[in-house]
Amino acid sequence: MSDDVTELPGEDPQANGLRGAVGMLAPRWRAILVATLSICLFTGASLAKPLVIQYALDRGVADGDRGALVVAGTLFLGLIVVIYAFQAASTYLVNRIGQDFLRELRVRLFTHYQRMSLAFFGRENAGRLVARMTSDVATINDVLNNGFLMVVQSTLTLLGATVILLVLSWKLSLATAIILPPLIIATAIFRVYSRRAYGSVRERIADVLIHMQESFSGLRVVQAFAREQHNMERFGSINERNYEANVNTVRISAMYFPVVEWLSGLGIGVILYFGGRQVAGDAVTVGTVTAFVFYLEFIFQPIQNLSQVYDMVQSAGAALNKIFGVLGIKPDVPEPAKPAKVEGNLRGRIALDDVTFGYDPGRPVLAHITLGIEPGQHVVLVGPTGAGKSTLAKLMTRFYDPTEGRVEIDGYDLRSLAAKDLRRNVTLVPQEGFLFTGTIRENILFGRPDADDTAVVAACETLGIHDFIMSLPNGYQTLVSFRGSRLSAGEKQLVSIARAFLADPPVLILDEATSSLDPATEEQVEEALRRLLKGRTSVVIAHRLSTAEHADRVLVVDRGTIVEEGHHRELLARGGYYSALYRQWTAGREVRSA
Ligand SMILES: Nc1ncnc2c1ncn2[C@@H]1O[C@H](COP(=O)(O)OP(=O)(O)OP(=O)(O)O)[C@@H](O)[C@H]1O
Ligand SMILES: [Mg+2]
Repeated sequence: MSDDVTELPGEDPQANGLRGAVGMLAPRWRAILVATLSICLFTGASLAKPLVIQYALDRGVADGDRGALVVAGTLFLGLIVVIYAFQAASTYLVNRIGQDFLRELRVRLFTHYQRMSLAFFGRENAGRLVARMTSDVATINDVLNNGFLMVVQSTLTLLGATVILLVLSWKLSLATAIILPPLIIATAIFRVYSRRAYGSVRERIADVLIHMQESFSGLRVVQAFAREQHNMERFGSINERNYEANVNTVRISAMYFPVVEWLSGLGIGVILYFGGRQVAGDAVTVGTVTAFVFYLEFIFQPIQNLSQVYDMVQSAGAALNKIFGVLGIKPDVPEPAKPAKVEGNLRGRIALDDVTFGYDPGRPVLAHITLGIEPGQHVVLVGPTGAGKSTLAKLMTRFYDPTEGRVEIDGYDLRSLAAKDLRRNVTLVPQEGFLFTGTIRENILFGRPDADDTAVVAACETLGIHDFIMSLPNGYQTLVSFRGSRLSAGEKQLVSIARAFLADPPVLILDEATSSLDPATEEQVEEALRRLLKGRTSVVIAHRLSTAEHADRVLVVDRGTIVEEGHHRELLARGGYYSALYRQWTAGREVRSA
């Protein structure tokens, strides 16, 4: 796998983020229309200001018409009010539409992630999935906050000013246009250098952060080897490079902005010189020349703005494509369009009908398995490593769908059940119990959030782990991921057993832990498990054959098929695969305990 942190396997690199974004924005067309109109209105009003000045100078001052001055003054005030009102309105609207959009995008991503199968999270790197929700969304946020308004306003201003200038005097416009090529070239050069410079600033900042983080987490080693001085020197040089990178951006800006200033001065000079000569020849008015000087700013500012937001818009486009690429990944186990109606709990009869499955459909891991498990039956799966036991368990809990055949519970094809109905009835207890940040109580309640404390305590008493929990510093309120009170592997298993017990599903699938616990904890875990499984349909993947001794039925899996089945004693008596496995295991146990 490549180290490229920007692309996820399974992600559609051709994903069209723009189409996706338009699709999401379409229902908000009214707000967008109002916002666009507001932008047009205040941009138009800004563009009209020099025209009013022109009118005041030509009609009011040159022609000595006082009434024209009053009209011009009033118009100007009116324009300023319009600009204020609609600029405020459009800033607010654009940002609100943007935040609405981002909120929905985050919800979509999160919902999408939650719907993805375990297989997906096995394949993908969690950091990248989080990046889609954080840094990519932040990039889009930047554009929505600052960029979008600027792009629309600058484009409108640029186009509007150009048209007005051409209409006012195309000759003077052409003369002024000589400053455009150097401005555009200078801006293009600036953009290339500044993009490079800001890219290196970002890298240098990352270096500083990485070094700091590494030094803090490795501080004990640093101090143990008295390497503080060396560490300081390394940090010094990294920090120095960060400084250089930043100064470089300043240097580039320091060269560019005075050039713009100078070109703008040149433009005014051109206008005054050519315009002034034309005024003398009566070709244009003083008001027109003045308006030209003002409009020059309306050409300069948008060009600079647009070049600034160009990169921003580009990275936001890339981020959008990536996000919609992830959103385009199809869930491996889709929700049924019309889920079967399930009332209350199922009885827990499991049936596999000629099931064939391969992670890669071309290479089956399980082949033609047909199997029925009665409600309440306690089934144990045994077999060599890589035989397909865990895969079988994943099919029964619908973490995958079979390539061929069907898996049923109480006659319902698993594919026809809504995920919530399936999970309420079939629970997988994973080998190493996973606990969320929070208290033990919260972790147990995870299985059935509406339960109360009495139910939690009752569950733990039934399982025989109440005393253990009460022996912890804060009892049920003990924080599980708090440094000092981190639980041992066995204790975590006990909590996750209690979680499953409280959820109380009719079917339990259990992958027995391979990591060994100390005998006392092991005894406690086994006792809790026995009580958990009582009265339920259960399928336990056993790594210790002692687990198989108490099963109603043992299934021996080898190379993707069930090669033997029956009760422990029957299988031993048959003298086949299982009895050989058992002899091997007991011999191993004697060696282990010797
Ligand atoms: N996510 C996966 N992608 C591709 N192949 C897989 C995946 N998980 C398991 N396999 C393959 O499927 C086969 C069966 O694996 P499975 O995990 O079901 O074996 P198992 O019987 O549970 O073994 P163990 O006793 O070691 O847990 C193996 O050949 C394994 O390499
Ligand atoms: Mg396994």
